[in-house]
Amino acid sequence: MSNNRENWGSKLGLILAMAGNAIGLGNFWRYPYLAASNGGGAFMIPYIAAIIILGIPILMVEWNLGRYGGKYGHATIGPMIYLQAREVIKPKYAIIIGSICGMFAFMVTILINSYYNHIIGWTLGYSYLSVTGKYMNKAVSTGKVFTDYIQSPGLEITFWIIALALLGLAVTRGIQQGIETWSKIMMPVLYIFGIILAIRSLTVGSPVRPDWSAIKGLNYLWNPDWSKLSWQTALKAAGQVFYTLSLGMGIIENYASYLKADDDIVLSGITTASLNEFAEVILGGTIVIPIAYAFLGPEGLGAGVGLSFISLPNIFRNMGGGQFFGTLWFLLLFFAGFTSAIAMYNYLTALLEEDLGVKRKVAAFVVFMLYVISGLPVGLEPILTKTTNLAYLTELDNWVGSYLILIFGLLEVIVGAWLFGKYWLDETNRGAYWKVKPWFFNIFVKVVSPLMLLILIVFSTRDYIKQGYFKWIPGFLEKTPQLVSWVQSARIVIILVGIIGFIESYLSIKKKYGKEITSGE
Ligand code: PHE
Ligand code: NA
Repeated sequence: MSNNRENWGSKLGLILAMAGNAIGLGNFWRYPYLAASNGGGAFMIPYIAAIIILGIPILMVEWNLGRYGGKYGHATIGPMIYLQAREVIKPKYAIIIGSICGMFAFMVTILINSYYNHIIGWTLGYSYLSVTGKYMNKAVSTGKVFTDYIQSPGLEITFWIIALALLGLAVTRGIQQGIETWSKIMMPVLYIFGIILAIRSLTVGSPVRPDWSAIKGLNYLWNPDWSKLSWQTALKAAGQVFYTLSLGMGIIENYASYLKADDDIVLSGITTASLNEFAEVILGGTIVIPIAYAFLGPEGLGAGVGLSFISLPNIFRNMGGGQFFGTLWFLLLFFAGFTSAIAMYNYLTALLEEDLGVKRKVAAFVVFMLYVISGLPVGLEPILTKTTNLAYLTELDNWVGSYLILIFGLLEVIVGAWLFGKYWLDETNRGAYWKVKPWFFNIFVKVVSPLMLLILIVFSTRDYIKQGYFKWIPGFLEKTPQLVSWVQSARIVIILVGIIGFIESYLSIKKKYGKEITSGE
């Protein structure tokens, strides 16, 4: 048990860093659009249920995995899973499941961030466009402003690289000096901006139709229309809970590994989740939905990516103080995205430190280069094709950001709650102010949450098959060859990164635990 690892400097720092990890573009961009386009209030019912029966249990499993792994000097998933799995199954099998989970975390942290970093770049670029009033000119549609933005190397690539460099800088300085310090500044500012924007949003009147008031928009979110409640809606809500709490990604475990062995994980975990939900439901919901409802009416709410980058700028330029509020909005998005991306960046940096024994500075630089290379296709697609399809980005998001995280989540629950099961409660409750009760563990952690994940996976698989995701490309090559080649490249990249991730995790576990694995017991 090596222990000259870094730890969190303070409780507040840990909570803000974990909240920064969870609070991301998922809260302010993904959630409002999902809730709005899935019936508003009808979405909220399964959403809240999923937080309790899926989100909290898996969150506990992840904090536990992370703190336990940290005790043995690990910050990465492969060895963490191995350590808990070997309690029951033979080391030679434990290394296999460890490598599979390590592979998923590796894929998630490289591939999600390869496009997420670009979106963070957009938010930074749009903060600049807001300050300089570049989208305020009503002669050019905000759709065109966005298209020009992502198709111009000048803006897109520049702000992407700036965002990456800032991330690298933060991570280079380590846990306390880097991640904790940045979170302590960015998170409070994010909340202040969020509250100002929410108040402004509620007081906006509709210039279009008097009956489209902001308050109507709020009602839409909080009045459940039971007839709109469907399986599809419930699945999307559960998927969002997973995404927004950063579950199935490996990054909660990574941050939890910097805890001390008896730091409270139950209360800290619940606090983090509450901060995330406040930012999502109260702030995200109150900023975007009322304002969009007032200006666009019920139809305009389902605009997807366009909601943040096209519809909202269009609203800002038509409302009093729009330039100021636009600036706040894009800076808020930037802070949210940045503090989440740090977590993925740190995961890979820790992996290189741990497995190659290189210095943090060197590791952080290598990760910078990795993100430049893996992010290049995302940035180049709109520039080269002069389209706004973002087919490469979408393909990565559909596979890695929505599907793999569920499978990874299921595997970790199996390892944490079943294989490590008899130690789980004691281990989790060590140092806890509120203890997890045995019935909660036996019902929700062991049975309900994996079952729900299984259902989610089965239904998503069915949907993906229907939509042709499992079909290899030639089948639809004739239709849109250009689009397809970006999709195909994305799939090849996903597979390659997966293979590298598996081998890396395998070697990493083998290096440290090789003896017990070959000796059989
Ligand atoms: N929980 C994050 C969010 O809501 C998910 C995420 C974390 C995505 C890190 C990318 C990088 O946005
Ligand atoms: Na979130």
